[in-house]
Amino acid sequence: MYVCICHAVTDTQIRQAVSDGACSMRDLRNELNVATQCGRCACHARDVLKEALYQIQEPMIASAA
Ligand code: FES
Repeated sequence: MYVCICHAVTDTQIRQAVSDGACSMRDLRNELNVATQCGRCACHARDVLKEALYQIQEPMIASAA
């Protein structure tokens, strides 16, 4: 699903960027240009970022417990 229409960025691309090490909106801006034009996608992009970060961290938290 498209998150950023201006730059045709999908949630899959954001999740892939997080898998590759992105951990902030700044990283997404630098790598994918998310929220660098009209900015309407920023809120949704942040939600996808948080969800992707949580999915990466969840197994680490579970294994540490
Ligand atoms: S929809 Fe992402 S910058 Fe416009």
